[in-house]
Amino acid sequence: MDDFQIKTGPGTTVVSVRVDILDSVGETLRHHAELDRIERVLLVSDRRVAGLYGSRVLESMRRGGFRTHEFLIEPGEASKSLAVAGEMFEALARHQVGRDGLVLALGGGVVSDLAGFVAATWMRGVRFAICPTTLEADVDASIGGKTGVNIAERKNLVGAFHTPTVVAIDPLCLRTLPARDVRAGLAESIKHALIASPERFDWHEHHADNIMALDDSLTTELIEFNLRIKGEIVERDAFERSGVRVLLNFGHTVGHAIESCAGYALRHGECVGLGMLVACRISCAMGLLNGSEVDRVLTLLRRFELPTQLDQPVATDDVLARIRNDKKCVGGRAQFVLLEAIGKPIVRDDVSDNVIREAYESLLV
Ligand SMILES: NC(=O)c1ccc[n+]([C@@H]2O[C@H](COP(=O)([O-])OP(=O)(O)OC[C@H]3O[C@@H](n4cnc5c(N)ncnc54)[C@H](O)[C@@H]3O)[C@@H](O)[C@H]2O)c1
Ligand SMILES: [Zn+2]
Repeated sequence: MDDFQIKTGPGTTVVSVRVDILDSVGETLRHHAELDRIERVLLVSDRRVAGLYGSRVLESMRRGGFRTHEFLIEPGEASKSLAVAGEMFEALARHQVGRDGLVLALGGGVVSDLAGFVAATWMRGVRFAICPTTLEADVDASIGGKTGVNIAERKNLVGAFHTPTVVAIDPLCLRTLPARDVRAGLAESIKHALIASPERFDWHEHHADNIMALDDSLTTELIEFNLRIKGEIVERDAFERSGVRVLLNFGHTVGHAIESCAGYALRHGECVGLGMLVACRISCAMGLLNGSEVDRVLTLLRRFELPTQLDQPVATDDVLARIRNDKKCVGGRAQFVLLEAIGKPIVRDDVSDNVIREAYESLLV
């Protein structure tokens, strides 16, 4: 598959999706015009991913002529913290990675969000590249330039926009990813189809079994079209100002509320799947979307073995309160991305609490 570029206001990302690209990532980076003089690199990964793929990347970086040091974090969301960011700054200083250095993230969204945030702020910004290894990172987290860490109160409250120069994706990494994480990533792929491409929604329905079996050519195709859909939206609204980028929030208003009310016991993608179902049911209740299209969404979520009901119910009032608290709430009104049809989103801020309540409670039966 050919490389392609995604241009955002602050920079351009070259995206390469190729089987076994991890064995040539050093050469790939070295050939990039903006990286050809780089000497020192900090490779950031988590211990699990580093155990699986670290040596291949280090070896390739050596062949590319980089002096690469490793900075490893514990796997999991708790590492996306200011404390770990602080340790990473110390490592950059210790290894003398200066303004002409590079931060290379190898891992899922936790690694790339943290590494990107540190790259954005170290010496007011050094180059950044990503080798994503989860489906969530392949189709979502690695593109768009959002980086950040969590504070105790909430996720992603501290952050910066920082565009990676290169995103190099090896679809074979998905073979070692737990099936539950693959399914969670598929929810974001369904999201992109629902907001931008009825054809790709059909495609998911048509190929569901082979996608679940991680057929290489299908996963490569899936990753590529997701990056193109997200990339096109981000190119039009790099800093989330013109409003187009809010479409990417489809399923996330309720999804984030469930995620935090459930104490992060569910995967993000699982909550997004539930949130998309609620958004479709709200769309239907408001006379925007046909019931038959809601059923198609429900059926596809089930085929990808994503939850369509909440086993451990979260109180409706808690979810409603969390929605009102969302950082994307404008002027005290929750903005909802709804659907008029599959592939045809619409933003509304006039959804009544009763409609939200009823749609949310359909998950609890
Ligand atoms: N910046 C953005 O635009 C953006 C978008 C979406 C999500 N995110 C962020 O991404 C994070 C979630 O990312 P995630 O779902 O990738 O989680 P993650 O980075 O925590 O990875 C999930 C788990 O999978 C393991 N893992 C990763 N790759 C593996 C592989 N190939 N084989 C086996 N195990 C592997 C990791 O060690 C980890 O335990 C959240 O913090 C979220 O806020 C950011
Ligand atoms: Zn998401």
